[in-house]
Amino acid sequence: MNTRTVAALAGAIAFAFAAAVSAQPIVIKFSHVVAEATPKGQGALKFKEVAEKLLPGKVQVQVFPSSQLFGDAKELEALLLGDVQFIAPSLSKFDRYTKKLQVFDLPFLFDDIEAVDRFQHSAQGKALLDSMTGKGLKGLGYWHNGLKELSTNKDQLKRPDDVKGLKFRIQPSDVLEAQFRALGANPQKMAFSEVYQALQTGVVDGQENTWSNIYSQKFHEVQKTIAVTNHGVIDYMIVTNVGWWNKLPADVKKGLQQAMDEATKYANQLAVDLNEKDRKRIADAGKAKIQELSKDDVAAWRKTMEPVWKKFEADIGKDLIQAALKSNK
Ligand code: LMR
Repeated sequence: MNTRTVAALAGAIAFAFAAAVSAQPIVIKFSHVVAEATPKGQGALKFKEVAEKLLPGKVQVQVFPSSQLFGDAKELEALLLGDVQFIAPSLSKFDRYTKKLQVFDLPFLFDDIEAVDRFQHSAQGKALLDSMTGKGLKGLGYWHNGLKELSTNKDQLKRPDDVKGLKFRIQPSDVLEAQFRALGANPQKMAFSEVYQALQTGVVDGQENTWSNIYSQKFHEVQKTIAVTNHGVIDYMIVTNVGWWNKLPADVKKGLQQAMDEATKYANQLAVDLNEKDRKRIADAGKAKIQELSKDDVAAWRKTMEPVWKKFEADIGKDLIQAALKSNK
């Protein structure tokens, strides 16, 4: 073989190799901390289904539920290191990356999940998706879970005084910490995967969460009372790594964003229904008592927690709080 033939052959091999490599699907790991039978668990599976349908052979989405791949403590770091490509932390878990998202943690800010939805779709809400790009995080959308209820290992849970001195597990959010301090309780930041055991062993007395999280984690089996406080919200931002995202081919980016939009619609429609069903399942299980609250009770909780707003107003921004308030009808 002369040198020309060798060079041509080498070129052909290199080309074939490059083609084979480029034919490999892009593997997208999507890690989250909740069970599959929750709005986020279902949303992640829907995203996989639609993304693989829209981009056949181009992407492969691997979903890891229940902190199997990364838990709360590690998932954001892992995303920035490129060990996972999609995560969907609750909005309370971005404290270290932006103070703006703390708006979602202000107690009794939103009347219902429809108000949360309107705010997320407003210009200010959408702008928050890009509020962490400087830190390497790009928000692709919001998913609902729902409003939070309060639970404890006590029989009496009706008025703010009933939680004085009790220990509560909270998500890693300074607003939530201040909220429980305003109640005279002792908050403890803790990863979601550790909550069941902490409740069971009495490391903490109570926690706050949605019906779907309470039911799927069996918190109702280790709590005595769940008060229907609806005092805050647990929703999610689906985030990816800016650098990784920007390097994707345009058609892949487009397909993934479309899959995200479809999964968002699906998860959000499911959220209300799933939480209602899980509330009923908890009632039927007959383990924890569900404590309804009167208007007067709710007003007392609101009054005790609301001073938290002032404390975080400067960090969050008055305008953003006003915009969120405007989404209540
Ligand atoms: C929690 O930590 O209680 C929740 O944020 C878990 C989740 O992702 O819904």
